[in-house]
Amino acid sequence: MSSLSCSWAVPVVTTTTSSPPFSRKPSIAKRTQRFHVSCNATNDDDQNAPTSSLGKFERRNLLLGLGGVYSATQLTSNPQALAAPIQPPDLSKCGPATNLNTGQQLDYNCCPPLTNRIIDYQLPKPAVMRFRPAAHLVTREYIAKYNKAVELMKALPADDPRNYTQQANIHCAYCNGAYDQVGFQDLDIQVHNCWLFFPFHRWYLYFYERILGKLIGDPTFGLPFWNWDNPKGMTIPPIFNDTKAAIYDEKRNQNHLTSIIDLGYNGKDSGNTPLQTVANNLNIMYSEMIRNVKVIEDFMGQPYRAGDAVNPGPGTSERGSHTAVHVWGGDPRQPSGENLGNFYSAGRDSLFYSHHVNVDRMWKIWRELRGTKPKDFNDKDWLNASFLFYDENAQLVRVKVSDTLSHEKMGYVFQQVDIPWLKSRPQARVQKSKVATTSGAPTAAKVKFPLTLDKIVKILVPRPKKSRKQTDKDKEEELLVIEKIEVDTTKFVKFDVFVNDEDDKIDELDKSEYVGTFAQVPHRHKGPVKVKPSIRLGLTELLEDLDVEDDDSILVTLVPRAGDVTIGGIKIIYAST
Ligand code: C2O
Repeated sequence: MSSLSCSWAVPVVTTTTSSPPFSRKPSIAKRTQRFHVSCNATNDDDQNAPTSSLGKFERRNLLLGLGGVYSATQLTSNPQALAAPIQPPDLSKCGPATNLNTGQQLDYNCCPPLTNRIIDYQLPKPAVMRFRPAAHLVTREYIAKYNKAVELMKALPADDPRNYTQQANIHCAYCNGAYDQVGFQDLDIQVHNCWLFFPFHRWYLYFYERILGKLIGDPTFGLPFWNWDNPKGMTIPPIFNDTKAAIYDEKRNQNHLTSIIDLGYNGKDSGNTPLQTVANNLNIMYSEMIRNVKVIEDFMGQPYRAGDAVNPGPGTSERGSHTAVHVWGGDPRQPSGENLGNFYSAGRDSLFYSHHVNVDRMWKIWRELRGTKPKDFNDKDWLNASFLFYDENAQLVRVKVSDTLSHEKMGYVFQQVDIPWLKSRPQARVQKSKVATTSGAPTAAKVKFPLTLDKIVKILVPRPKKSRKQTDKDKEEELLVIEKIEVDTTKFVKFDVFVNDEDDKIDELDKSEYVGTFAQVPHRHKGPVKVKPSIRLGLTELLEDLDVEDDDSILVTLVPRAGDVTIGGIKIIYAST
């Protein structure tokens, strides 16, 4: 690819964290500022790149260095008819972010410093591997090293993009609506609730880790993972509870400092025994890593392309354990669940990075569990989606999703630890067929949708196919689809789904009857407000466990846990694995 380095005059955007909030995002504000662009192309084709009278798309593209898959002319003619990977943001148009828990504009500027040079990032051939240890197993020496690195990061000048606060701001800018989609100024960029979730955070951690490693001169330094999927790691790792350590953060839920994490957290403590919580956690992991994710997008999240409104739908891991950890960790004494419980502030707590290293590890494990099945989307709009980050040398780089497919190529490995949930295939509480038809619940066809989940709701859902052969089951997964989920996006919302659970043992998430969860970290964006995601939950294995493969229908129980939610429909479909 050609490389083009440009410099341009841009509206003044303050970059220090203490600066007062600025008024409006340039895309919303009246644009009186003219951009002046001058470029030095490094290959002949680009010598002729226009430098004046540029249309909106062309100018933006030029600012971005003419990378990606668009040529300037393609973009102007009809952006929506073409391949449409999410483009990196135009940093010069970064604007105010939104407090997603209140919907209010943040009184805080999380835009990164501007720079006049962007280069296309080439993954360096790793000379040595970085080692990511389990946070509860690290040595004293490691703890000292990690704290030293964070201390140095905090000591960098406030406007150095590698500074600790600047790094936290990356999450705020990409996740709280500070960036428009290039070419679609009425739409935000959002890296959650869609198929960008895993690759974006992988890049984020990648550079964060390299910056820390560079600061302590250790090319093998890897971030520790919070091993919340293993009973031995199911508390906040003790290294984060040392109040004198650089990685300590006061803004955490003080009741949870040493308690067992609840991966089914509902926003309040459950009253379950610790043993029940651990059992629930293991089955939550099993269901979101194995049972419900035979189809790629059900794990990775739904497609999200340039021009799409945000929130097409998160994968199991994102909406399940990932969300639970954020909300469980956030500090209820703070106005909006800061730090972990709100996207704009999450990156200010070092615990966030260890949480996400484990999320990243889940991606790796899920890929390994796929065996010979496709592990990645083979979709150019996913592979070519790109982001901007500052690397360990404070150079602004453009990175692509297609470079995140192998963590080894990215130069890091994880400490090997037991994965107990692999063997946690649950038992049925009751193995009984015809539960559905004798339940007296209405069939889906008779239910009036949209249906508000203001109490436990039971619905009989017919199965288009039954008594399937093993070969068919291997090829096609039977999926329960809960459609058009409408939520107040500014609230923490959660509901759980059970099948054939006659006695409503809704605190036991460790039985086959528990199918899965919908949950969201609060968020608000511009663009169409009524985005209604769907979730899909794998049934094939569960119906075997319940021994009801020959039944015509299943009885679905929806248990609201937090927030207001309405669903637009429920049905069973089949999708190839
Ligand atoms: Cu980008 Cu866990 O959030």
